[in-house]
Amino acid sequence: MTYSNIMFETTDGISTITFNRPKALNALNSDLLGELDRALQEIIGNEEIRVLVLTGTGEKAFVAGADITELAKLDTLSAKVFINKGLSIINKIAELPIPAIAAVNGFALGGGLEIAMACDFIYASTSARFGQPEINLGLIPGYGGTQRLPRIIGIGRAKELLLSGKMISAEEAYRLGIVNRTLAPDALMGEVMNIAREMATKGKVALRAIKQAVNYGLNVDLPSGLRIETDAFAVCLASSDAKEGTSAFLEKRKPLFKGRLIP
Ligand code: CAA
Repeated sequence: MTYSNIMFETTDGISTITFNRPKALNALNSDLLGELDRALQEIIGNEEIRVLVLTGTGEKAFVAGADITELAKLDTLSAKVFINKGLSIINKIAELPIPAIAAVNGFALGGGLEIAMACDFIYASTSARFGQPEINLGLIPGYGGTQRLPRIIGIGRAKELLLSGKMISAEEAYRLGIVNRTLAPDALMGEVMNIAREMATKGKVALRAIKQAVNYGLNVDLPSGLRIETDAFAVCLASSDAKEGTSAFLEKRKPLFKGRLIP
């Protein structure tokens, strides 16, 4: 499959999607979103892929948001269709059965921050900038920003960013808990690949179970969340990965996880 608005490659079970419209700071137009969707479908269908990394071409931008040229042409009905389509693609990142890491190398604004927040966690270059500037366009976020940002940093801090549209540094994003680590620009991808490689050695069944327990559990009350965890634990325990992991521990050797998600 060919891609021109993203680059999509897989090495040793780690896929990397690189947003690749540098002249528009990797803004999300329909073509790019369509290619992102295809790449995500490929990942979902490929049992060998164990971790996904998302980043942007160059050092200037991760993604500078939805493509404003396209947004400007929409009316009420087409806006709903357009935004729903993009949102469903971005939600696929959150729903992936494997970990997704955002390697934010520059501007992560609007839809760019929303993509990063749909990932499981974010590492950022010290030169990265974050924000939900839609208010400056007379708009609001449409790819989850009003929902995911307050869940990550709290209501007051999220409202301050959403209502002011101000941009914050990587350091500030780290302080707020948006970003797990800040790294020098030339160290970013190396460190992201290190943690990706570490996760790629784990059992796929348990990786998926952790993602689902955290993601679904956060949207329900604590007793229901704990029930989700109990059920997921039981599923993991019955998996070949758990048999391998516990046997390897008792036999004092390294586990080799081969558990499959696709029958
Ligand atoms: N859509 C389309 N084109 C964009 C873009 C976007 N979101 N962001 C940048 N570009 C284009 C610029 O128009 C410019 O193109 P030309 O060279 O053809 O003029 C090129 O990328 C380089 O950008 P700048 O010259 O503006 O670069 P800069 O360094 O001076 O500024 C910036 C960088 C601060 C990121 C600025 O480009 C900017 O503010 N971009 C818009 C950011 C934004 O508002 N994002 C939210 C979009 S709405 C959204 O995302 C809604 C949603 O939730 C779904």
